[in-house]
Amino acid sequence: MKFEAFSEGCGALVSDVQLNNVSTEQANQLRDRLHRDGVLFFRDQHLTPAQHIELANKLGSIVLNKFFKPVEGYPNIATVQKTPTQTMNIGGGWHTDHSYESAPALGSILVARELPSKGGDTEFAHLGRAFADLSPTFKNLLRQLKAVHSNEHLYGEGGYYRDTDQSETLSGVTDVGQAVHPVVINHPQTGEEILYVNLGHTIGIESMTHGESFALLNYLYEHASQPKYTCRFDWQPGSIAIWDNRVTWHQAHNDYHGEGRLMHRITLAGEALV
Ligand code: SIN
Repeated sequence: MKFEAFSEGCGALVSDVQLNNVSTEQANQLRDRLHRDGVLFFRDQHLTPAQHIELANKLGSIVLNKFFKPVEGYPNIATVQKTPTQTMNIGGGWHTDHSYESAPALGSILVARELPSKGGDTEFAHLGRAFADLSPTFKNLLRQLKAVHSNEHLYGEGGYYRDTDQSETLSGVTDVGQAVHPVVINHPQTGEEILYVNLGHTIGIESMTHGESFALLNYLYEHASQPKYTCRFDWQPGSIAIWDNRVTWHQAHNDYHGEGRLMHRITLAGEALV
């Protein structure tokens, strides 16, 4: 198996591996690099849905997403889809999956099934590298804070997606909830300090006014989305991305109106963050 840096910002491109036949040793190596590089990219893989599930079981255990439509016959796989007639996509702003849960997902395995002729790239940011560059004084302040994460403003009654043409396929309107996590976490496997707030799900900092929270979070979002911490993956038939949700943010570009894009996503279970 060969790993090369995908960009200065984040990610590794992995070659010389067949994801439909990963050994225990390779799975361990993949997990290790995933936790450090944040996201792993693969080309020319062509996994069946059953092989997608098998890969997920080698890397961790599967957790279901409450809102996305499952793939027919494979309840463990969620569809992330935009049809040619829809204008809204899923995950179009910076976020990490399931940060609104008390034990947020470890990561996700995204397999390209149908792609537009161009566009629909996914961008990632490395929140460990972004945190490392802050001043010692600011880091100390952030280490004392906790943030509230929610999904109600997205999937709940009257939420962002409910007012769009994605609403017909999204379920779980009453399954919404919140969780509180430290603003800076130690990665459960590597111990790396990571900034754990995201634009999609973080609704405020505990014990701060709305204005203070807004200003602080906006600064952090601008800081971490600089090109030096990000990378952008152009999907091709057979492409797969596996990301560590604690280390990275991601966002899917919605720049292919009139064409369809269908991805299959399996989410890996995580643990409470400290
Ligand atoms: C997601 O947010 O999980 C979807 C990312 C993508 O479709 O590229």
